[in-house]
Amino acid sequence: MPYKTLTPTQVRILELLFENPILSGEKIAKTLNISRTAVWKNIQILIRSGYPITSEKKGYKLMSKDVLLPNKLESLLKILDPKFKVYHFWETSSTMDVAKDLAEREDLALVIAERQTFGRGRLSRPWISNEGGIWMSLLIKLPLSLKESFVLSYMVSLSVVEVLRKLVSPRFFLKWPNDVVYQENEEEFKKVAGVLIEVEAEMDKLKYAIIGIGINVNNRIANLEPTGTSLLEITAQKWDRHLIISECLALFLKYLKTDPYETLNKWKAYSVTLGRIVKVIQPGREILGKALDISEDGALILEINHTQIKIYSGDCINLRTSS
Ligand code: BTN
Repeated sequence: MPYKTLTPTQVRILELLFENPILSGEKIAKTLNISRTAVWKNIQILIRSGYPITSEKKGYKLMSKDVLLPNKLESLLKILDPKFKVYHFWETSSTMDVAKDLAEREDLALVIAERQTFGRGRLSRPWISNEGGIWMSLLIKLPLSLKESFVLSYMVSLSVVEVLRKLVSPRFFLKWPNDVVYQENEEEFKKVAGVLIEVEAEMDKLKYAIIGIGINVNNRIANLEPTGTSLLEITAQKWDRHLIISECLALFLKYLKTDPYETLNKWKAYSVTLGRIVKVIQPGREILGKALDISEDGALILEINHTQIKIYSGDCINLRTSS
C-alpha cells in the first residue's frame, strides 16, 4: 500500500512557507539548521508531491494556503483529547486501510490524506478524492456492542451537518443513511459529504471502529459527479479545512457522551428523507415507499401498501414530498 508522507523537515518547510509570504532558501536553511542544498532538495520533493511552491528571485513562495499542516491539526485535536495522533499523507490509497493497519498500536488516531488513489464509499463504490477535500478516517476504540455501533454513523453525519450549518450555510441537510446534502432549490439536493464506517468486533464487543469521512471542501467536483457539490462550488471561496475537521471531531466526541436516542432525534430534525416518497436501491432490488421514521436500531422505516418494513442499507432517492 503506498504511504506517501512528508518527512519532519518537509513539514517544517511547509509550515514556514505557510507563515511567510516569501522566504529565501538561506533563511529556511538557517531556521531549520540544514544546508541550502537540503532545502532545495526538499522543496523539489514538495513540488513533486503536488504542493504549489514557486521559486522566485526573493525566494520560495507557497501559492495557496490551502494545505493541511499535520502539526497544526494535531495540536487542535490534542485539545479535544491528549491521546489523539495524526497520520498525514499527501497521497495514499485509502485512509480506511491505513487506519486499519494502525488499529493494533493506536487507540485514537486520525488518518488524513490530501488525495486518495483508491478512496471508497458505501456499497463498495469508488470515492473521488482529489486535492482540496477532507479525506479522513478516525480510528477509535469504544465500549460499544456491535448492535449499538449503528449510532456512530448517525452521530458523525449529524456532527458534519451541524458544523457546516454553523460555519457555511443553514441549507445543509441529511439524507438517509448518512449523506450530508446541500439544498440547491426546493427539490434539488446535492451531496457534499459521506460517511463510511468499518468496525471490527470480537464476540459482540467492538474492538475498534474506523470512521471514514469525506467532505468536498475546496475541491471542484461538478464535472466529475453531477449529483455532488463542494463548499468551494457553493460559496466561491476556500475554507479552512483544519477548522472544519476539528469542529466536526469535537462535536462527534461530544455526541459520543450523550444519549444516542437524543442524537437520533436531532438527526431526524435535519432529515430530507423522512416524510417523503423514496426509492431505496439495494443490490438486485428497488423498494418504493414512504419514509416514515428511523427505528431505535437505526433502520429506515418505510410504509408500503399500509405495511411497515425496516431497511438497514441501500441508496435512497427522494421522489416527492408525501401529502
Ligand atoms: C459514501 O459513500 O457516502 C461514503 C464516503 C466516504 C469517503 C471517505 S474519504 C475518507 C475515507 N477513506 C475512504 O476511502 N473512504 C472514506
